[in-house]
Amino acid sequence: MKPSILNKSLLILLIAMNLFSCSVQERASEVSQQEKTSEPYRHQLHFTPAEKWMNDPNGMVFHNGEYHLFYQHYPDSTVWGPMHWGHAVSSDLVHWEHLPVALYPDSLGYIFSGSAIVDKNNTSGFGTLENPPLVAIYTYHDAEKEKTGRIDYQTQGIAYSLDNGRKWSKYENNPVIRNPGIKDFRDPKVSWHASSKKWVMILAVLDHVELYGSPDLKSWTKLSEFGKDFGAHGGVWECPDLFPLTIEGESKQKWVMLVSINPGGPNVGSATQYFVGEFDGKTFKPDGDKSQIKWIDWGQDNYAGVTYSNIPDKRTIFMGWMNNWAYAQILPTEKWRGAATLARDLSLVNVEGSFFVKSTLVPELLEHASETITLRDLQVSDSINLTTQIKFSLGTSIIEGVTEAKDFNIELSNDKNQKIRTGYDSKSNQFFVDRTHSGNNTFSKDFHGVVYADRYAKNDTIRFTIVVDVSSIEVYFDNGLTVMTNLFFADEPMTALKVNAPAGKISIKELQVRKLSSIWTKQNQ
Ligand code: FRU
Repeated sequence: MKPSILNKSLLILLIAMNLFSCSVQERASEVSQQEKTSEPYRHQLHFTPAEKWMNDPNGMVFHNGEYHLFYQHYPDSTVWGPMHWGHAVSSDLVHWEHLPVALYPDSLGYIFSGSAIVDKNNTSGFGTLENPPLVAIYTYHDAEKEKTGRIDYQTQGIAYSLDNGRKWSKYENNPVIRNPGIKDFRDPKVSWHASSKKWVMILAVLDHVELYGSPDLKSWTKLSEFGKDFGAHGGVWECPDLFPLTIEGESKQKWVMLVSINPGGPNVGSATQYFVGEFDGKTFKPDGDKSQIKWIDWGQDNYAGVTYSNIPDKRTIFMGWMNNWAYAQILPTEKWRGAATLARDLSLVNVEGSFFVKSTLVPELLEHASETITLRDLQVSDSINLTTQIKFSLGTSIIEGVTEAKDFNIELSNDKNQKIRTGYDSKSNQFFVDRTHSGNNTFSKDFHGVVYADRYAKNDTIRFTIVVDVSSIEVYFDNGLTVMTNLFFADEPMTALKVNAPAGKISIKELQVRKLSSIWTKQNQ
């Protein structure tokens, strides 16, 4: 059938509009890419939303070759508001591609934090065995109900996708768990418990966690509770996770529970504690001493972190929100606010009879280094300046070294003499990051100058890995047994490197400095 003249001109108009919108879109992505590499404070190694507000990472799942990163997002402002799930994907956990918002608020409420799984056996019936659904399990926060003064405004809902997370349908019979009359009732993390053949959900409930079981992700039964008299309780419990880890050097597994708390962290504000123990599909039994609190990260800026689901190769990969509720909404960034930590591999080690979680950088990031300088057997008395040996800017870099377990610190500075130091103090047996003179730090009294961390390891050498980004420093001491993630806001990139030995001499066996290029320079926006 021939198109009529009217139809023809309509067709031409539509083609022209389409071409125009493509070129506008292309230009928009070029602009945002350029901005990402030139905007003040924009991280170049860490995930940030293209614009506006981000908090917790959500729904982290690997599926059909893609790592999905959903996140708490308010697309209309740079402060917290009605929550959506923002969305990005990556093939390597380093380079991210921004995708449209995945989940929007609906009549049941805002979309708060939660998880996503691949329902391989199609237990939910949302897909088929050939095309198993991705299922997101999240908290509904009904702000309208909250305004009426009621406390039962948080419930759990589910949604599914049959096209690799691009389009989502909410389950028609949501919510799948109703509120039992408790104000803080949120952040479901779901995983498949193989030996009892069911889904297990861990949920944060005010000052403890609750475990629920389900055959199909739709009907849930409460299994047990944990935590009222365990761990840190300086604030509300949020964003829990429960997963097995194999003990390093053994074949045995133990279970690790992550629980974020806000406030009540070791350096003021938000932080994430963990428990190691046993889980039989119903009840979690922690090991050892009730009073010892273990932190997954001692820095001020790692919160609400959980692990990826459906990862091959027995890896357990963690990412957190690189921020702290104590000042998250007033950080001095303009177009965007909030970032994710780097992805980390978690493992479990036995330190003199007590089990600790180790976090190490995913090797994918190291593959991305462009230049490397290795210095050996450095004898430092007082201080040594290594700037001329390094030859490249430290703005985005990784500094790794092994030193004697004596007082030392690595000092980075820029042309404005803004500096950041990180190292070890033997008297207190603590590590520290000192960002007192690192640039803009007056926006909040809770943004601490010096941040401290306990040393768990007992060895007489200290291995450290420092990842420097435009406005963050992540430090992994003792192979990641003690980790510190902290933001800073310098006016210019760090260019100079010194090693200081405040208590006399130290010898550094090896120091390796690698330059990393921006993750936004690859073909993604
Ligand atoms: C943690 C948290 C979660 C909640 C979400 C709301 O940062 O408070 O408990 O689901 O943020 O955005």
